[in-house]
Amino acid sequence: MLRPILIWPDPLLKKKAQPVTAVDDSVRTLVKDMFETMYDADGVGLAAPQVGVLQRLIVLDTSPRDEGAQPLAMVNPVIVAAEGTAVWGEGCLSIPGENEDVERAATVTVRFQDESGAERQLTTGGLLAIAIQHEVDHLDGVVFVDHVSTLKRELIRKRMKKLKAADEKPAPARPAAKRTARR
Ligand code: NI
Repeated sequence: MLRPILIWPDPLLKKKAQPVTAVDDSVRTLVKDMFETMYDADGVGLAAPQVGVLQRLIVLDTSPRDEGAQPLAMVNPVIVAAEGTAVWGEGCLSIPGENEDVERAATVTVRFQDESGAERQLTTGGLLAIAIQHEVDHLDGVVFVDHVSTLKRELIRKRMKKLKAADEKPAPARPAAKRTARR
């Protein structure tokens, strides 16, 4: 099931998510929905708070940009080591149409539980490392524009407010004559 993605600024996107206490069927359903929602929006990562669920859960799939990348669901991810620096142009499904350079660690080691609840650890670099840091940020109420200058962030905030205002306006009623003419 597709879930609506919250658009920044939204109070829920600023909140800290709570740990998942049991990896049960409700969590697996959420994972399935999050993958569906992420693929539908052409994203490479999605965090549960972006669909309004304040739980520590993220999904990632950096293919086809990364050859051989597999879909990954991470429950309660914790970055336990980080090395080097890398700058990538980042975007976010909650901040559509925006892209800004962000400096992050080049390589990270992350501990998490998989969909069966098993403890896993992964060390990775490249786009996946960037995506993991971006999504884990979401679990702490941080979005990528929090890493750019205040000036850039405020410009983006204005554009997002305009975008949201346009979305909330009711669609204009189509004249009956036009509908008839199209048949
Ligand atoms: Ni994001």
